[in-house]
Amino acid sequence: MIDLRSDSVATTHAIAGVIAGLVRPRDIIVLAGDMGAGKTAFTVGFTRALGVSEEDQVSSPTFTLVHSYNSGRIPVLHADLYRLNSMGEVADLGLREQVDLGAVALVEWGDVAADVIGDSLTIELSHDEDDDDARDIVISVEGHGWDTRWDKLRESLRQWSVH
Ligand SMILES: Nc1ncnc2c1ncn2[C@@H]1O[C@H](COP(=O)(O)OP(=O)(O)OP(=O)(O)O)[C@@H](O)[C@H]1O
Ligand SMILES: [Mg+2]
Repeated sequence: MIDLRSDSVATTHAIAGVIAGLVRPRDIIVLAGDMGAGKTAFTVGFTRALGVSEEDQVSSPTFTLVHSYNSGRIPVLHADLYRLNSMGEVADLGLREQVDLGAVALVEWGDVAADVIGDSLTIELSHDEDDDDARDIVISVEGHGWDTRWDKLRESLRQWSVH
């Protein structure tokens, strides 16, 4: 696990940018945390860092379940599982099949469907009780996809590390 603290939206964007720099096609990134924790803010920083154009705007994919942004270095799928009712519906989105074609996926509320999603990097954001602009960010991994990148990831995020 990597424990970080973000003191502003700009910092969350910067953290997402570092992670975007290490991402590879076929990665799935699960974004966990309460409403307003910063999952969509993370996505904005992530897609910007991959060079997704500003016209290809990130919005909350609440009504369209999956958005795709194809103007950056790697195609990005952005899903929000909040409104899905069953694991069958999550499976029907075909996220794994789509990333296997060479994209990377960011999945808000993906932690509720960990079994369907499988191997992933999980970014859990949580509010800070004392500071409205601060977030605790915990990064963990499921599977072996990040084994060779883990030390680099930790090192690149060191300035925001809390340990
Ligand atoms: N350090 C921070 N990191 C991220 N967002 C922050 C931070 N400080 C304040 N914010 C604010 O918190 C809000 C985060 O909203 P965002 O839509 O990203 O949350 P979300 O986790 O996607 O919520 P939802 O579950 O409703 O989709 C934004 O208004 C953002 O400006
Ligand atoms: Mg959101």
